[in-house]
Amino acid sequence: MSDKDKVYIFDTTMRDGEQSPGASMSVEEKIQISRVFDDMGIDIIEAGFPITSPGDFEAVTAISKGLKNSIPCGLARAKKKDIDACYESLKFAKRFRIHTFISTSPVHMKHKLNMSDEQVIEAVKESVTYAKKFTDDVEWSCEDGTRTTLDFMCKTIELAINCGATTINIPDTVGYSIPEEFAKTITHIKNNVPNIDKAIISAHCHNDLGLAVANALAGLSAGVRQIECTINGIGERAGNAALEEIVMAIKTRNDLMPYDTGIKTELISKASKMVSNATGFPVQFNKAIVGKNAFAHESGIHQDGMLKNRETYEIMSPESVGVKKTSLVMGKHSGRHAFKDKLNDLGYTDVTDDVIQEAFGKFKVLADKKKQIYDEDIIALVDDSLIVDNKINAINLKSLKVFAGTGEPQRAEMTLDVFGEIKETSQTGDGPVDAIFKCIKELYEHDVKLSLYQVHAVTEGTDAQATVSVKIEENDRTTVGQSADTDTLVASAKAYLNALNKMLIKREKKSLSENIEHQRVKEGV
Ligand code: KIV
Ligand code: ZN
Repeated sequence: MSDKDKVYIFDTTMRDGEQSPGASMSVEEKIQISRVFDDMGIDIIEAGFPITSPGDFEAVTAISKGLKNSIPCGLARAKKKDIDACYESLKFAKRFRIHTFISTSPVHMKHKLNMSDEQVIEAVKESVTYAKKFTDDVEWSCEDGTRTTLDFMCKTIELAINCGATTINIPDTVGYSIPEEFAKTITHIKNNVPNIDKAIISAHCHNDLGLAVANALAGLSAGVRQIECTINGIGERAGNAALEEIVMAIKTRNDLMPYDTGIKTELISKASKMVSNATGFPVQFNKAIVGKNAFAHESGIHQDGMLKNRETYEIMSPESVGVKKTSLVMGKHSGRHAFKDKLNDLGYTDVTDDVIQEAFGKFKVLADKKKQIYDEDIIALVDDSLIVDNKINAINLKSLKVFAGTGEPQRAEMTLDVFGEIKETSQTGDGPVDAIFKCIKELYEHDVKLSLYQVHAVTEGTDAQATVSVKIEENDRTTVGQSADTDTLVASAKAYLNALNKMLIKREKKSLSENIEHQRVKEGV
């Protein structure tokens, strides 16, 4: 394919995606996700909004140090301190992008910015010129673009390009546009901005009317060559255009959309699961491409057709997005070597020996308990070991006994290692999970809100492992914990502890950054 047909994929899962109410990812999770994005061939990764929090700053720094192929990017308002924070966090990468934006619609300028047309124009000039001092790769966005008057939009775009912007992003910030209209806006820009050939036009569409993907694709036919999107379509309110839908639509209907995204689509399913696990946001069963049912054929007529020829009811293969048929893997006699090879096949190429050792130990225990072990079981074990490998566990489960059933109130007996001290308790509860969580609260006093408790069977059957996700909230902080085990109650206890351990780290970091801030104020910096 020629260069002209390339469509750049700009992922904003870790910036706009994380702005979904309740979605938050730890720095470690973001690093792991960014590695998969890098392998997938995502062109630009918007890793965060560095000025907004020490966590975002740290994540952008760590990600920009680790990427091999993708270009890291940070978001900045039209303010020098935002652009400085972007530069400071991105400077370790050999190439990086600064993405700066300001609202251009009448409603935003009047009520949000309280700025006149002239002031906004001045801010565009200053911010893009300033960002350009740090990098050649500057993206400029006219926030609320689709509710901006076309004349004013064209004027600001021309100015941004003159000041050095090489990508011009048109956001449908409130998800208000419809495909025909969005395409017309792009055509208008192409016909009325004299220097538009010096920049790539980008689409950033929100999904408030369920039209984000349709709008972004309509933009392509009018000249858009970068699409901003998120895995699983997460993002502010109803979310952003879903990366997997954009990429698979272009791939499947390449007859009508002859473009190349360069994305290794076989990694889509893995990326979707990682983002869902990290955010605690389940993927709806019938979600296009990555939903549990996206490739399931239920009715007899469909199944019959599929058996005769897959093309009867399948427009793309599950394998093309990395959905493998549940495959039976090794048994209890398999050795460490075979286990390591299996991990490689499953895409775990850079896990440490400690993690392999830990996961292999768990595999042996599982093989004794469970008749059949599947790829998904192995994935759950390794992911569980990766959580342990983060070495963040100050509180660990030593033992758990649960008494459940009819009649008696459910009771849990628990032993925890709390910062090296062994503590025991027994509590009753409204159900076994409630009793378990009460034990943890008794042994380590804390006050958090439980905002999500979710159990997901890794494979079929009553002996399947369960992956449990727990989300807890404290003031403005949220953490998600996970664990997998054939015993759902053990997984529940470990998932809660994982979330709690992460919260302790967040607290520590907050107080550290407060101390630094305090010190700065004292020193007058
Ligand atoms: O939706 C939006 O307008 C944005 C901008 C910051 C690009 O996210
Ligand atoms: Zn957005």
